[in-house]
Amino acid sequence: PGSPHRPRRRCLDERPARELRPVTASHSEQGAGDVLRQPGPGGLAPVNCDLVACAALTYDDGPNAQTTRLLAILDKHRVFATFFQQGGYVKANPAVAKAVAAAGHTIANHTMSHPYLTKLSPASIESEIKGAQNAIEKATGVVPAYVRPPYGATNKSVAASVGLPQILWDVDSMDWQSKNKSVFLPWIMSLVKPGSIILQHDVHASTVDGQSELIAQLKGKGFYLVTLPELFAGIDLKPGASYKCRGTAPGCVAG
Ligand code: NI
Repeated sequence: PGSPHRPRRRCLDERPARELRPVTASHSEQGAGDVLRQPGPGGLAPVNCDLVACAALTYDDGPNAQTTRLLAILDKHRVFATFFQQGGYVKANPAVAKAVAAAGHTIANHTMSHPYLTKLSPASIESEIKGAQNAIEKATGVVPAYVRPPYGATNKSVAASVGLPQILWDVDSMDWQSKNKSVFLPWIMSLVKPGSIILQHDVHASTVDGQSELIAQLKGKGFYLVTLPELFAGIDLKPGASYKCRGTAPGCVAG
């Protein structure tokens, strides 16, 4: 039983063998007007976020033991997300960081020690970013392409020093404050729109406890859940610039 919009993406390898072929512009589930897209993570069909309602789940501040629980939930739902990891926790939990990458999720940079970057010198900002880049690459083999400044705190000095596109959000779950899915789930659903980036924190058990329901509710509203590289496909993100959603709404970046 599914909606006409088929919010659940098919795995490419779920199709009969005779249908399997390289993904090209002429082989698209979204029809004419699509542009050449890379396959999605985990072999999922590509999604064109200009044509369907996308939302990107992002999880900050890990990895820790809760991250492992979350990975199992995402796997069960065949959903891929983006994890903004702290370098210090990556060093403490390298196997968890590696499991996030191995599962096909996107890993991005949330600094080494979660400071207010706006209070640091340019050299200290660079050190916070590079430290996390190095820790993540060492643990996972992945070189992150995005940074999220802790607390969303940024300014011209931060922009000039981070060296990566800054990814913020347009849906702040406030999950850390309520620690209660009966509060943060309806709040997220009241704010989400096509092209949204949803901020949550995988370090809280209460957040992880709400993810199966959140995924079901978002899919039920027709949202395709994508990673940040999928959300921003075809958009040339600039180092230092800030992005919080995709689309034509105020403050978003259009494709
Ligand atoms: Ni954070």
